[in-house]
Amino acid sequence: MLNCYTHQKNQNAISLLAFNRPQLNDWLVSQDQTIKNMVASLGFVADVGQTALLFDKEGSLTKVLVGMGDENDLSVFGTMARQLPEGVYVAENLSGTDSYHAYLSWGLGNYQFTAYKKSKPLLAKLYLPESYAQYGYLKAILDATYLVRDLINTPANDMMPSDLTEAVMNLAEKFGGKVETTIGDDLLAANYPTIHTVGRASHHAPRLIDFRWGNEAHPKVTLVGKGVCFDSGGLDLKTASGMLGMKKDMGGAAHVIGLAYIIMSLGLPIRLRVLISAVENAVSGNAYHPGDIIVTRKGLSVEVTNTDAEGRLILSDALCEASTEHPELLLDFATLTGAARVGLGTDLGGFFTTDDDFAQKMHEMSEREHDYLWRLPLHKPYRRDLDSKVADIMNTVLTGYGGAITAALFLKEFVGEGICWGHFDIMAANVKNTSTGLEGGEAHTLRAVARYLCERFPA
Ligand code: BES
Ligand code: MN
Ligand code: ZN
Repeated sequence: MLNCYTHQKNQNAISLLAFNRPQLNDWLVSQDQTIKNMVASLGFVADVGQTALLFDKEGSLTKVLVGMGDENDLSVFGTMARQLPEGVYVAENLSGTDSYHAYLSWGLGNYQFTAYKKSKPLLAKLYLPESYAQYGYLKAILDATYLVRDLINTPANDMMPSDLTEAVMNLAEKFGGKVETTIGDDLLAANYPTIHTVGRASHHAPRLIDFRWGNEAHPKVTLVGKGVCFDSGGLDLKTASGMLGMKKDMGGAAHVIGLAYIIMSLGLPIRLRVLISAVENAVSGNAYHPGDIIVTRKGLSVEVTNTDAEGRLILSDALCEASTEHPELLLDFATLTGAARVGLGTDLGGFFTTDDDFAQKMHEMSEREHDYLWRLPLHKPYRRDLDSKVADIMNTVLTGYGGAITAALFLKEFVGEGICWGHFDIMAANVKNTSTGLEGGEAHTLRAVARYLCERFPA
């Protein structure tokens, strides 16, 4: 059992009651005058995140009221997990999907990144009935989300390509499966020129991490992750403020590791392949230059118009390799463009696909999981903006318009015909504390995709 929950309800258990305004009024009707007075004097009206702590005559905390506002925002349970004093809390007025979201938010809110700085342990525990059938699912999601956040939050000095390999090795140890890595100059021999080119200037050798798991007879799902352990921008160097957060540029890799964790711990009938292009986009005497032309694994030549558009380069060889097996589903995850962040803000994942059914289902799963994404178009006419005078394609458009779309169109060139492909251009971080997650590494679109996989490939 995760230690933010308990199955034990002792006699000192504290009621945790979540209300919107009408629910609060209904509840108050049946309460005695003391409680009515306390609630009134605290000014508690069930606004989002508002809390009221109610004590009995002996001074013991017996009830916590929390407001969900008009929008019935169950994520307030996340803030509760961090703010409530030690004790066992019983969420008493929940039902069905409400309990899943309340329990989930509590678990998400309970995360702390403590590897480099001690922090106060969180001692509030939420009671989960032993009969709660979704616990296995909840635990898989939370374990994976914590793993994703830890990987992203770990700074680049401790999270280089070899550390990503280790994270994948840990999965293999826990669940079985096979890891193969192609490292450094071997990338040239094995024909992964883009990964080598982008990563060669770093002291930490670039690599392709290739993980396989599952029964040969099951449908193949391949996950591809952008593992840029630090993105300085290369020679087209980023500004100081642009560079500051770039330890998170392996967020896509963290996401595919998290998804693999969920798939394997739930035992989904999937033949899984995970490909991670792991590099540092560094500056050195042998760094690749603006203007360089790379002949990719697929054979397409790419003119590098900006070395800061490194993610699409290293993903292109991985997508090309993934496509040779014609998987049933091919998904890639990447902190690919600032443009997706300008368009959608930090929380909404940018989502591209060639498959309308898949898009519709992903939107449904996103709503259901409160894990938001929005489909952007693979608008064909913009492909011309990537035409190069000296190569088959440029890695960036020179105007800069539609940056998330043109990045996705670039990737599409390397995806095999007829493959159901989804591309997730994500932030992978919170820029401020929210109820369910602190500032720092965050899983985006992970729960929506996990739910989709569970529905399409039920265990
Ligand atoms: N990793 C960045 C994109 C990014 C920036 C994601 C900020 C999330 C937050 C990516 O490698 C990059 O630098 N993209 C450039 C592309 C440009 C040179 C066409 C960008 O978005 O500015
Ligand atoms: Mn970049
Ligand atoms: Zn990048």
